[in-house]
Amino acid sequence: MYNSKISGLGYYVPENVVTNDDLSKLMDTNDSWIQERTGIQERRHVIKGDGDTTTTMGVKAAKVAIERAGIDKDDIDFIIFATLSPDYYFPGPGVLVQRDLNIKTVGALDIRNQCSGFIYSLSVADQYIKSGMYKNILVIGSELHSHGLDMTTRGRGVSVIFGDGAGAAILSREEDSTKGILSTHLHSEGEHAEQLSLIAPGMGKRWVTDIIADQDENDESYYPYMNGQFVFKNAVVRFSEVIIEGLKKNQLEAANIDMLIPHQANLRISQFVQKKFGLRNDQVFNNIMKYGNTTAASIPIALTEAWEQNKVKSGDLVVLAAFGSGFTWGSAIIKW
Ligand code: UT7
Repeated sequence: MYNSKISGLGYYVPENVVTNDDLSKLMDTNDSWIQERTGIQERRHVIKGDGDTTTTMGVKAAKVAIERAGIDKDDIDFIIFATLSPDYYFPGPGVLVQRDLNIKTVGALDIRNQCSGFIYSLSVADQYIKSGMYKNILVIGSELHSHGLDMTTRGRGVSVIFGDGAGAAILSREEDSTKGILSTHLHSEGEHAEQLSLIAPGMGKRWVTDIIADQDENDESYYPYMNGQFVFKNAVVRFSEVIIEGLKKNQLEAANIDMLIPHQANLRISQFVQKKFGLRNDQVFNNIMKYGNTTAASIPIALTEAWEQNKVKSGDLVVLAAFGSGFTWGSAIIKW
């Protein structure tokens, strides 16, 4: 048995900064509502027509992670790509990344677990490395939300929250069993699937021919829906539960945490969790202020920034945790 360690990290966000004031020109919202309820000051949106997609952003983040891991692209044994905003309905972006990076015919897996996508991906990658099957796995979380948001007052409860961006990690074999990913913990509760969802263009409710024939501009099923307060209430409970589960599994407690990197859903959620575990400001990394909620990309972007700022150091106990659509949630306990 081996462990897996994160040997390289990278992220990419589009240059185009969209402030809360910018959004207030498109819909009935304002800077103080957004900051007070979410902590978000600005986010990045791909400019229409500039060519960036979920895949291309993922590729840009991946190139940085590969270089920092000190490996060649041909050393990658497997690709895992998490997103809720794929370029195509199918095939998923895993194979598109493989093509763009010109990596030989390794397997590429797409993960559909929204905000928990990166933790689910880490967990899958970790099992492959632990078992000895693979040595280096490229894990990407990337999202292009802006193209799919309802930028009118009707969609303001969702549209002000989400941003575009990508993060990537290389997971590599670690021979020292006391280091690297110690454990991952995954959960889901499909009972609440529609509480945070995008129903169309799924095949479940309607036939494609009907969708095309309808072409109804009032059809909201093409936009993401979120029952915000219900999601919020579940998030704070599940974040806490899954962090405790991870700590217990490793005979650790909150006092052992050096750095908590929560999925950037809402600054108020992060602050609730911080308070619950009695963590100082410097023990929780947040960047939702700059990027909004980038779902599957949020943890790898935050982890990369924390690492770049020397806030994640060798020997640190790093805890990652996420909650989101599905509902799905999870945590990863890492000895850096
Ligand atoms: O990443 C996946 C997991 N996601 C989450 O965990 C998100 C969880 N939920 C949340 O973060 C919060 O519920 C939101 C930020 C989405 C919303 O905050 P809230 O405090 O729950 O607000 P609300 O939905 O209860 O809306 C309060 C009021 C409503 O007006 P009335 O009915 O009180 O007159 C909304 O219509 O705020 C109104 N509102 C807005 N006003 C200005 C909703 N969106 C906006 C907006 N600007 N953008």
